[in-house]
Amino acid sequence: MTSRRKFLALSGAAAAGYALGIDGRSENLPSPGARRFHLPLPVPALQRPTRSDSTTDHYEIVQREARVEILPGTKTTIWGYQGTFPGPTIRAQRGRKTMVQHINHLAVPTVVHLHGGITSPESDGFPTDLVPPGKSRTYIYTNEHAAATLWYHDHTMDYTGRNLFMGLAGLYIVEDEIEKNLPLPRDEYDIPLIIQDRLFDQDGSLQYEPDPVHGAFTDTVLVNGAPWPRLEVAARKYRFRILNASNATSFRLALSSGRPLVQIATDGGLLPFPVNIKEIPLAMAERVEVIVDFSLYALGTQVFLTDLNSKGNVIRFDVLRKERDDTVVPQQLAQASPIPEHLAVRTRTLVFTRRPGPGPESRWAINGKEFEADRPIADPHLGDVEIWRVLNHTFFQGLSIVHPVHLHLVNFQILERNGKPPLAHETGLKDTVALETGEEVRLIMRFGGYRGRYLLHCHNLEHEDRGMMARFDVV
Ligand code: C2O
Ligand code: CU
Ligand code: CU
Repeated sequence: MTSRRKFLALSGAAAAGYALGIDGRSENLPSPGARRFHLPLPVPALQRPTRSDSTTDHYEIVQREARVEILPGTKTTIWGYQGTFPGPTIRAQRGRKTMVQHINHLAVPTVVHLHGGITSPESDGFPTDLVPPGKSRTYIYTNEHAAATLWYHDHTMDYTGRNLFMGLAGLYIVEDEIEKNLPLPRDEYDIPLIIQDRLFDQDGSLQYEPDPVHGAFTDTVLVNGAPWPRLEVAARKYRFRILNASNATSFRLALSSGRPLVQIATDGGLLPFPVNIKEIPLAMAERVEVIVDFSLYALGTQVFLTDLNSKGNVIRFDVLRKERDDTVVPQQLAQASPIPEHLAVRTRTLVFTRRPGPGPESRWAINGKEFEADRPIADPHLGDVEIWRVLNHTFFQGLSIVHPVHLHLVNFQILERNGKPPLAHETGLKDTVALETGEEVRLIMRFGGYRGRYLLHCHNLEHEDRGMMARFDVV
């Protein structure tokens, strides 16, 4: 028995509380742990092109197993892009093509998806487009997207949850001229925070034994692959690109000082104007970019980024030195271009539900059906504007079950959440929208880019792997 199984066997009640994410007492849980706010925050390496020509940057990424030190004093076997956890960051330029050759040196088949990308169907990482061990595939990204924080990750049919848990995820940042010309913090003051939670065994190995309803069990919060790290900062502005790359944990992020986060971007890139928000909900796969101005704190202050849902303090910032700061947060960031509702040619309805299995087993469905690779559930025409009503009708033991609903290919705008305007953090372009039980959103989007087969799915990876995914075809 692994230590976690023993733990669950010994303590059913605590385990149930834990499964509900309402426990928060990680002392009770088996991961070896790490001294909190001790390790420095790592930043994923920037991947260099192997060559660049007048139109294209070419990259090569090897997917391989590696033994890395995540928890001090133990070694963890991970599956990583370039053998790192998380993978290296790619920085792409809008209007220049990127060709990424992924070489699979793992023992399992894999496929790569660029989350948030406007990608041709051949390169979008359909879950059955698998690359066997020992083989490679080149994915082509045209980077038509405005400046935004995207990410790439595995999308293997039925095994996305396991493969991401093992480490197959990395950032993909698109830059453009508009964003480069803004006086925002950049370079070493532009820092990604990839938040992921994990469960480890005493020997440091990753323990992936998901709960059938709630998804992956965890007790350890990693930022850029380090448990509860700290970052020494100057008393000036920083830009943080925050990605929730967890399998099944949604966060509500806030500063421990009570000051607001200044949000400048969402999944789809820069907002029209900055928004001050005290608590930012961030479900799986969602991104926000925020500016934190540490000049508002006395030297010596410690500020935490905290998850108010269940995980508590995630990272500590230590304000250590004065520094000059020429950056500003402009009142105008990007041009807003809302799609007028009257352009929509049709409305579709998508209902996300649980399909109770025998015993504790759960399957998950969209409009009553589980994923079938050959069955598209929608066929928007290229160029059409549509409205999609998405409903979370998952009722389970009186609990709210969150479904972060993600669409490939398109960015959408949220017209309404439960009949009201969208929440403050989700007013811009999005590719993922989180729904609690009983919630309903109306989304508007234009199916531009490419014809072909794409996906929509829940980004709780354990739901996704158990049916909550569907194909749509742009025709
Ligand atoms: Cu982030 Cu279909 O995935
Ligand atoms: Cu995606
Ligand atoms: Cu879900």
